[in-house]
Amino acid sequence: MSNFEVVSTVERPDLHDQFDIAFRSVWPELIFHDAVAKEYVDRVQSRFPTYDVTVVEGDRVVAGGWGVALAWDQTIDDLPTGYDDALVRSFSTDDLSSFNTLSLMAIAVRADCQGKGLSSLVIASLRERAGASRLRGVIAPVRPTLKASYPLVEMAKFAKWRSPDGQHVDPWIRIHERLGARILGPAPRSMVITGSVAEWESWTGMLFPESGTYVVPDALDLVEIDRDADLGTYIEPNLWMQHD
Ligand SMILES: CC(C)(COP(=O)(O)OP(=O)(O)OC[C@H]1O[C@@H](n2cnc3c(N)ncnc32)[C@H](O)[C@@H]1OP(=O)(O)O)[C@@H](O)C(=O)NCCC(=O)NCCS
Repeated sequence: MSNFEVVSTVERPDLHDQFDIAFRSVWPELIFHDAVAKEYVDRVQSRFPTYDVTVVEGDRVVAGGWGVALAWDQTIDDLPTGYDDALVRSFSTDDLSSFNTLSLMAIAVRADCQGKGLSSLVIASLRERAGASRLRGVIAPVRPTLKASYPLVEMAKFAKWRSPDGQHVDPWIRIHERLGARILGPAPRSMVITGSVAEWESWTGMLFPESGTYVVPDALDLVEIDRDADLGTYIEPNLWMQHD
């Protein structure tokens, strides 16, 4: 029988080599080229070691997730604009006692272990850790996995799509809702990813012969290519959700 254990990632440096194999392939390459994330992500674990967990089965890494603490006054107006802004806000002061909210930032399950509910284990553990640290709430700039199939649909509209049984059409939103989360609203400018045309071609395996707007696999919105400026721009929309 499977025996999954949740550990603090920082306590298991021996597992580090497995992370690339386990997780890199479950994300689209474009996601690794966000300038704000590049500036902060390497410093997150030492700042918030409690909110970075790995799920192991024996010595095999099967899932993981991390979040950051930040100050939020619980109003929609005060929400960070998205993933990038949550990162920036979590580094905005050295007085961590002013932080009252955990923002879940990324959760991944290795490809051959998906569909076993492991992401719920990660969310539950991070929520528990937030509670133990006396944070008042948990939010997440959710990246709905099914949205990539509907890049022409606005996130606000997609957020309302439900099956006749009332469940959300998107599996990742469903998981959060089953754990008691509710939708707060779109984060239209959650991540901003830019690169040269050649970089975009290598990230996506596509050619962009002309300037224009392109549908790109695994992107939640369209990618704008400007050949004259040698620039491709993708603004990723996410969906803010709040856990109890
Ligand atoms: C999204 C993700 C975290 C879900 O993890 P999980 O623990 O395997 O999901 P669950 O086992 O709880 O399954 C929940 C639902 O998603 C569906 N599902 C799980 N993996 C799936 C997959 N690879 N493709 C399509 N649907 C999937 C399940 O069938 C289930 O459907 P149900 O609600 O009808 O029962 C995981 O697929 C993943 O790591 N994806 C890549 C990274 C990512 O997108 N992370 C989320 C953004 S931070």
